Amino acid sequence: MRPAEPLPLLAIGASPRRGGNTDVMLKWIAEGATAAGQPMAVVQLRDVVVRPCIGCERCRRDKRCTGHGDGMQLLYPLIEAARGLVLASPTHSYNVTAWMKAFIDRLYCYYDFSDHRPRRWSSRLGGQGRRALVCTVAEQPEIDDIGFTLEAMAKPLTSLGYRVMDQLAAQPFFDLGSVRQDPLLAERLRAAGALLARAVTDDTQDV
Ligand SMILES: Cc1cc2nc3c(=O)[nH]c(=O)nc-3n(C[C@H](O)[C@H](O)[C@H](O)COP(=O)(O)O)c2cc1C
Repeated sequence: MRPAEPLPLLAIGASPRRGGNTDVMLKWIAEGATAAGQPMAVVQLRDVVVRPCIGCERCRRDKRCTGHGDGMQLLYPLIEAARGLVLASPTHSYNVTAWMKAFIDRLYCYYDFSDHRPRRWSSRLGGQGRRALVCTVAEQPEIDDIGFTLEAMAKPLTSLGYRVMDQLAAQPFFDLGSVRQDPLLAERLRAAGALLARAVTDDTQDV
């Protein structure tokens, strides 16, 4: 087996709160990945202008998003280069934040659709061994209190061709950065980051 080349990992955070629980969780995942030999770039959507998809469908023709000239144009090359992707959103009203929803909808430009109705589709990110993690944090203690949050990230990623390796929920945490009080959570997230890092460097895995 040839030596693994550095393959970038990318994490997308979608909390409005700088230094909040999602930020801490992403820091732990990145620590685990780095310890396993793969540094992870972390992008916070609160620092980038990502407009909602306007459904113009120009991407079907152009094979990229030409509907908006916003910060997402800087993120597309990072997404394409990274074989491992982490999506992290706090639970807001049983779902991802509006920023994460906008980000996910803007990945629609990676689909190819057939001309026959009902239109069949495939993803240009598929078949490349891409791996992903999704995670959330919520104030309330029951798994029902996170509602659709994990599924809202995992399902579109799966359709786009990622294998979602773990879906991580931290509860019950409200105060800014209060997840720091949970060392077991830190260990779980570091382990997930390491798992992702190893998965994208192991070229014996099927795609
Ligand atoms: C608009 C809004 C909606 C929320 N909805 C939920 C919810 O549906 N379920 C829940 O358990 N917590 C909910 N929360 C609490 C957050 O998930 C919780 O405070 C979390 O720790 C915030 O993470 P952050 O520090 O990364 O922003 C909500 C918070 C806000 C601001």
